[in-house]
Amino acid sequence: MHGERRPRTLSHMPSMPTAATNLMVYDHPLIQHKLTILRDKRTKHEDFRQLLNQIAGLMAFEVSRDLPSRAIEVETPVACTMGTQLATPTTIVPILRAGLAMMDGFLALFPEARVGHVGIYRDEATAKPITYYCKLPPDIAAGTAIIVDPMLATGGSAIHAINLLRAKGCRDIRFVGLVAAPEGIAALHATHPDVPIHVAAIDERLNERFYIVPGLGDAGDRIFGTQ
Ligand code: PRP
Ligand code: URA
Repeated sequence: MHGERRPRTLSHMPSMPTAATNLMVYDHPLIQHKLTILRDKRTKHEDFRQLLNQIAGLMAFEVSRDLPSRAIEVETPVACTMGTQLATPTTIVPILRAGLAMMDGFLALFPEARVGHVGIYRDEATAKPITYYCKLPPDIAAGTAIIVDPMLATGGSAIHAINLLRAKGCRDIRFVGLVAAPEGIAALHATHPDVPIHVAAIDERLNERFYIVPGLGDAGDRIFGTQ
């Protein structure tokens, strides 16, 4: 990674929600505090993993706000009453590798969720996505699919993952990331305008190697200590 030393403000960051563009930016101070530690190049991979999962858990709460639910009768020790139950199955879809580090945070809130794995990496020279693995529940289209990946750079990996879910008939697809480049948001909106994008920050731009600036570096390497 080429370091860029100039400190940057986050004043360009819109606050959530900007629903008109299907884009939610989580400006919650707890999330921004943890994100700032993640950006710090001195943060060790064990802390990185823990913080990323914590942020994912906080975002999981908000992205699930409008999940379909139905009324059910429940008998308490005292009386019968009406309660609520999620009406459709939820599938969390991490994009390997980095999306794996958001799974524990999501599954803490969705213990009954199914998990579909999509393995995609970017070609180092072109940044074009290359799929090497895909294992999804056969009936994934019966409910909501939430794609998780901390980085939305060119948008190629997310678009590719959504294409795979569309091919399975999925209609309710949501993307949850940590840091996005404007280029990635624009590309994702242009290709899949109906897919809501949930992120903690919109950064300035991509550099000549298609890394997000200021970003946090290579998420997979920082998570797994493979730098
Ligand atoms: C990273 C990241 C995203 C992708 C984002 O994965 O986790 O999947 O890059 O970039 P894009 O928006 O330009 O597609 P990477 O390709 O580094 O693979 P890895 O997680 O296996 O290291
Ligand atoms: N993938 C990463 O892990 N980081 C970036 O900045 C861009 C793509």
